[in-house]
Amino acid sequence: MSPSRPVVLVTGAGGYLGRRLGRRFLDRGDHEVVLTVRTEAGRSALAHDLAPASARAQIVVADLGAPDPFTDVDERLRRRITHIVHAAAVTRFNVDRELARQVNVEGTGHVVTLARQCPHLVRLAHLSTVYATGLREGVILEEPDDGAAGFANAYEWSKGAAERCVVDQGDDLPWTVARVATVVADDESGRVTQHNAFHETLKLCFYGLLSLLPGRADTPLYFVTGDAVTDAVARLSDPAAPGGVYHVAPDRSATLTLEQVLDLAFTRFEQDEEFRHKRILRPLLADRESFELLVGGVSSFAGSLVHRALANVAPFARQMYVAKVLDNRRLGAALPQHRAPDPAALVTATVDHLVESRWGRRSEVVA
Ligand SMILES: NC(=O)c1ccc[n+]([C@@H]2O[C@H](COP(=O)([O-])OP(=O)(O)OC[C@H]3O[C@@H](n4cnc5c(N)ncnc54)[C@H](OP(=O)(O)O)[C@@H]3O)[C@@H](O)[C@H]2O)c1
Repeated sequence: MSPSRPVVLVTGAGGYLGRRLGRRFLDRGDHEVVLTVRTEAGRSALAHDLAPASARAQIVVADLGAPDPFTDVDERLRRRITHIVHAAAVTRFNVDRELARQVNVEGTGHVVTLARQCPHLVRLAHLSTVYATGLREGVILEEPDDGAAGFANAYEWSKGAAERCVVDQGDDLPWTVARVATVVADDESGRVTQHNAFHETLKLCFYGLLSLLPGRADTPLYFVTGDAVTDAVARLSDPAAPGGVYHVAPDRSATLTLEQVLDLAFTRFEQDEEFRHKRILRPLLADRESFELLVGGVSSFAGSLVHRALANVAPFARQMYVAKVLDNRRLGAALPQHRAPDPAALVTATVDHLVESRWGRRSEVVA
């Protein structure tokens, strides 16, 4: 007998995207919602954050680094689950390979195993990243990638391996892989509630801590908002959308180059009196060899400000020399109403928010 109401299980529900997706399914009201978090403390925090809607959700602890993470998802529940949205992952670019393997790769394997034990499953949606294709250049289609181009860091490698785990081990499952671009803001207002490498790099530039940046001026950068990703992933989780790989990313014509992003950021920085007063210069773009020499050279000054600043940038440095042309025609066909925001307006609004709030330290602006 099939379940009367769809039952969706979201992993990583305490994280930035998982929480938004959980809230989205709760707000719809037509799904029964099961949210998984890594720890007990995470369960309390999520219940508090989503209240009062959390009273309608079942919040379950499932540490994907454990050998059998879903023991609290009992057999009766497994028989009722119709959708799994897998958003849990260690998302730091400087994660070590062993933790990335344990959580992102083997953890995804556990999710696939769970999916197999759900007889009424209509969709397994796996959140991936556009960097799961690693250092691959040129046109990248919405199809599985073999990882042959190599990777800039262990995070990317693990997300590539996790995709292959879904594709290879889940060949008889209704899977979808959503390769998400870099989330720079919650929405087009530029409001930022989660900082990532993009925001941290701009912060180092604003405070004059980076005199060199890795990258080529013409490298295209793919930006999205948290709202747009949540909407797209929720819709792709519906079996009405065909399964397969999707690029939840703008197409090349709606991207900015690294140089254009820096121009917009520094134009906004220079409107700030404190920034102008310090006469901070715009960092130079270094070729790959020079940047690697610099990182190697300052590693003997571990603990210094310059070393710490470079350590933030180094894990994704190689990616800044890679020109990807993401094809998103499958996304366009599945979600014709999906629109990429104007990239210059989005970056300007985001940098404005970051400068005004001093990267979240002036909390009254963030609220
Ligand atoms: N945000 C982006 O710009 C972006 C871009 C591309 C792709 N993605 C992908 O989208 C997904 C969600 O990203 P996000 O931005 O929401 O990341 P996030 O805020 O870091 O959330 C990740 C979640 O995974 C959980 N997690 C980590 N280790 C775990 C473990 N051992 N067991 C169970 N849960 C664990 C974290 O819980 P704790 O906090 O308790 O550790 C956290 O709640 C990830 O797969 C990421 O690769 C995100």
